[in-house]
Amino acid sequence: MKVAFTLNGKGTEWQGAPVTRLAAALRDDLKLTGTKVGCDAGDCGACTVRLDGRQVCSCLVAMGQVAGRSVETVEGLANGALADLQTSFLAHGAAQCGICTPGMLMAAHDLLAANQRPSRAEVEAALGGVLCRCTGYGKIVEAVMAAARSVTLMTPAAGAAVGARLPRLDGVPKVTGRDAFGADAVPADALWIRVVRSPHARARFTLGDLGPLRARLTAVLTAADVPFNGYGIYPEIKDQPVLADGEVRYRGEALVALVGDRAAVLAVRDDEVPIAWTPEPPLFGIDAATAKDAPLVQADKPKNLLLDGGVKHGNVDDAFSKCAAIADGTFETTFVEHAYIEPEAGWAVRVGDRVEIHASTQTPYMDRDEVASVMRLRPEAVRIVPTACGGGFGGKLDLSVQPLIAIAAWKLGRPVALVYTRPESMAASTKRHPARVTARFGCDAAGKLLACDVTATFDTGAYASWGPTVANRVPVHAMGPYAVPNVRTWGEAFFTNGPPAGAFRGFGVPQAAIAHEAMMDALADKLAIDRLEFRHRNALCAGDTTATGQVLAHSAGLPQCLDALRPHWQKAHDDVATFNAKGGPLRRGVGIGCMWYGIGNTSMSNPSRMKLGLSPAGTLTLYSGALDIGQGSNTIMVQIAADALGLPAWQFQLVTGDTDLTADAGKTSASRQTFVSGKAAELAGRDLRQQILRLANAGPEATLALDDAKLLVRDGGVVRTLDLATVGGLLGEGSFDPPTTPLDQDGQGVPYATYAFAAQIAVVEVDIELGTVKVLRMVAAHDVGKAINPTLVEGQIEGGIAQGLGLALMEEYLPGRTENLHDYLIPTVGDVPEIECLLIEDREPLGPSGAKGVGEPGLVPTAPAILGAVHHATGVRVTKVPLLPHRLREAILAKEKAR
Ligand code: FES
Ligand code: FES
Repeated sequence: MKVAFTLNGKGTEWQGAPVTRLAAALRDDLKLTGTKVGCDAGDCGACTVRLDGRQVCSCLVAMGQVAGRSVETVEGLANGALADLQTSFLAHGAAQCGICTPGMLMAAHDLLAANQRPSRAEVEAALGGVLCRCTGYGKIVEAVMAAARSVTLMTPAAGAAVGARLPRLDGVPKVTGRDAFGADAVPADALWIRVVRSPHARARFTLGDLGPLRARLTAVLTAADVPFNGYGIYPEIKDQPVLADGEVRYRGEALVALVGDRAAVLAVRDDEVPIAWTPEPPLFGIDAATAKDAPLVQADKPKNLLLDGGVKHGNVDDAFSKCAAIADGTFETTFVEHAYIEPEAGWAVRVGDRVEIHASTQTPYMDRDEVASVMRLRPEAVRIVPTACGGGFGGKLDLSVQPLIAIAAWKLGRPVALVYTRPESMAASTKRHPARVTARFGCDAAGKLLACDVTATFDTGAYASWGPTVANRVPVHAMGPYAVPNVRTWGEAFFTNGPPAGAFRGFGVPQAAIAHEAMMDALADKLAIDRLEFRHRNALCAGDTTATGQVLAHSAGLPQCLDALRPHWQKAHDDVATFNAKGGPLRRGVGIGCMWYGIGNTSMSNPSRMKLGLSPAGTLTLYSGALDIGQGSNTIMVQIAADALGLPAWQFQLVTGDTDLTADAGKTSASRQTFVSGKAAELAGRDLRQQILRLANAGPEATLALDDAKLLVRDGGVVRTLDLATVGGLLGEGSFDPPTTPLDQDGQGVPYATYAFAAQIAVVEVDIELGTVKVLRMVAAHDVGKAINPTLVEGQIEGGIAQGLGLALMEEYLPGRTENLHDYLIPTVGDVPEIECLLIEDREPLGPSGAKGVGEPGLVPTAPAILGAVHHATGVRVTKVPLLPHRLREAILAKEKAR
């Protein structure tokens, strides 16, 4: 069918099947990849365009419906210069990873076309159909409300970049739809892969005759095609097969890869792949995995145990016998899905005796080494060229599409692409570890903590992934950010037939925080001490010794965070008391949550290296291996390097992530990039500056100015000009590995060089008849050391709070039941309340300009604060999250019955 329509103001003709989705026609045929696809099912809104002046999900519109109509996409927004709305998005930090941004822009444009000065409620209503997993929505709403005002983007002068609200340096491609994500730049001649996955959580299988399929397609890959069929995060644990070999251990596990022309592989029905299944009863949950005589998920892992270990400090039993008040409880969490809006995607191509992988990732060098390992190649034979990453949150630290596209491209000598569907992404990818945390805390009559005993047991799913990291990190953090003289903590992780649990913003610390914060509330209530004041009395301070025996030499800003929250705490209590005095089924409450978070890997080397080049032509380039997955490290690294060098940030070019061009900056996780890679960027800037000053024979106070290939060095009244064409290229280098020590068998040592601290307040409204909870307001005080870019720091906190809200109230991944974004609910713009961020800067001398990290801390205290507020409103102490309405209603009824 031929369809004539207007596209961004121009007459256009398209030909194809009338049922073709508009999103697919735009992207695949008309090459307008600014329109993104996050679900292809009408749930995420990433594909939002305007059709005859009304926002629609283009994945739900058939091309047959488009004839004679007008379609507007993000590519049509800018008319040469950026539209005011796009500029406002940049100025407000409204785009993080940017995958939702085109859809958000089009939904906002739809509103602004009719109403240039919308209210907050009108903006929220207009954006209600577009999901963002990064921002927490607040900055998007502000950007839309401010779009009618003329906004000037700031360009700080030399030496003034650190601390400035500099717009993202990689922001323009995000607001114009030009950023190329994993599915956006697939070569036209690429073959496609469709992965056949297990419908069973535990089964044995045999493959039948694949000859007929091989005749239809270009190739059919099985385990026999994988040179070394095991991968994993840890060098000694390569337990996950690329393609299962006769046995599957979780629903969604890959077993066959169909390779060929895109239409041909998509046309193959699952029942055309000859697989003979022998299902076996799966082990679901910690109790099943630890039961006597439980079958083994992995034959060589006795007792289904992945790892255990703990921290011991002081005499816990003796201390408990002296406590004036003791609180205890057991808390449970479930699998939680990352739900990044960009499903895993990428393509690979063989180049001579090397393979290049262009895919969405958080960790290019780990990907390189892992792909090389499964292919039995040298690491140098693999090049990773990361695409833009549409959200990761830990989920793109594991391999996904990479090994299959690499193996297929290597064998076939053709580019090969793989783009996960949304259900495939959700079924196959890692999850947050379900946890059972049993905690006991005791204090003296004055409310000073004396002892704690915490055991955190994790369901690590079918394969190890980041399970050891979680089991190691949690015992160090399980007492919370408090000075507790007697500590016994334990972490353990067991294999089950659930999806592999991996890294997810916090590495198990959010689960543990739910327990320790409930204990703080319970002890404070027992002693009739204000909950904030109780925490303040026990807060770790600079100079204190932690349970691992580490002396916090400096930068421990929890007391300052709590002090900053005091007026908000008091006002919230007053407001809530006034509201509740009216009576009725709606009850309001106030809660508080605190956290600490060790920055970087636990007791392990995690170095970063940065390079800063000045070419003979005067091009200044930061070569950064630190992947920006939306958090803003591209901008942060430049801000730091710019001030260390003494030139303005706007003069920088940026090369990121490519393993051929950048040094290894480690993975984007553990809130480490600002602290570790930022320090390396600072050192690289200083190194280049020293080289320049030496060449110019100038003193340390000299100022620099770059004018094409001329570098002016002003030292007092003397100006020297370096002709870079004559001098040749210069390269500054910096590397940093935060100082840590291994933990001994009692967990004693220095696991992290520094810690972030935070406290958050939540105000909630509970309908006690329905069991529903609405979060009305959050105030978040975070000690970040130094806010290199306050807008980006706030963005991390607000985005973390939105994910923490989901963890507390709505998100539960159930294999086979919530494998899409209409059954698995994440917070929408209507769910996330107004958030006020208070940035505390207790400088960390080791960090760049005193900075620490904030990626994970934003999320950790949120669920405890919300659950504390629910308890304040209802008297119900929640022991299982998510706190779905039926769970809260049951708990309220049980409490009423017990009266
Ligand atoms: S891709 Fe269309 S709504 Fe998600
Ligand atoms: S910026 Fe919205 S999903 Fe990443």
